[in-house]
Amino acid sequence: MKVTHSFTDDSAVIRMEGLARPVRMLHLTDTHLRFFDERDGEKFQACVEYTKRIEEHHRERGTEPDPEKPFRQSMAQAATENLDLLALTGDIIHFPSPASVEFIVEQIAELGVPAIYTSGNHDVHYTDEPVNAEIRLTRLAALQPLHNGDPDCSARDIGGIRFVSVDNSVPQLSRKQVDFVKAQLQEDQPTVLLFHWPLSLPTLRDAVIEKLGSPPMMGDPDWSSQSRTAWQVSEDTLETLEFVEAVTTAQNVVATFCGHVHFAHADAINTRAVQYVGAPGYEGGRRLVEFRPL
Ligand SMILES: [Fe+2]
Ligand SMILES: [Fe+2]
Repeated sequence: MKVTHSFTDDSAVIRMEGLARPVRMLHLTDTHLRFFDERDGEKFQACVEYTKRIEEHHRERGTEPDPEKPFRQSMAQAATENLDLLALTGDIIHFPSPASVEFIVEQIAELGVPAIYTSGNHDVHYTDEPVNAEIRLTRLAALQPLHNGDPDCSARDIGGIRFVSVDNSVPQLSRKQVDFVKAQLQEDQPTVLLFHWPLSLPTLRDAVIEKLGSPPMMGDPDWSSQSRTAWQVSEDTLETLEFVEAVTTAQNVVATFCGHVHFAHADAINTRAVQYVGAPGYEGGRRLVEFRPL
């Protein structure tokens, strides 16, 4: 299958041999919306304190303190873009509060476009608790209205393209997730993957280290154990490495879309596929993607 890519930080055109019709997708990631109320119970105070800290952070830098503004602007623009799909790839909300979940569910319903939601590290925990697989499990019920199905992994065909989402919020993958992805890839349809933590690619790695001081990505070949501990991330498991291998070598993967590192980038995975990293939605980041027949 021949595939070509052209892109900017906020757009991409992916031409694919054999595609029957154009497909338009908005990729949105890392909006870090933070609504909360009395339903957060014992977590309420942590939400108040986090909000104070982050607003102060933005005030010091002269950047927009309220992520709701760029989110609403992006959704208003989305309503004019004749979309086939809204892809939300994690850290869309900063903690799994009922108010944040409700807001996103309402916004998606108002837009009226099919949406795929996969979690980031922030979706699955409150700011005063650790982030790990156990905490994630306790938050899945709260996030269910967003995933609207299996939160671990899902697949949907739109316009002849298979969109596969994988929750790598913690970020190691389970055997179930890897087996699911490999089964999807074996069906030999053109496939796009959606997840939060990027794959570590040689052309992305230096830029991430320059911005964050470490390479918090999947399958990174040289991420120190000290930095992993700071990020609350274990060594990559065999399952995670198997996933990276499957995605980077499959003949039918045309693109992956992710976020997490908070800047826009696009990197060749191989001669067909490109990994698109989205700029953070809290800064107005978004990428309009057009899949077109070649
Ligand atoms: Fe983020
Ligand atoms: Fe993240």
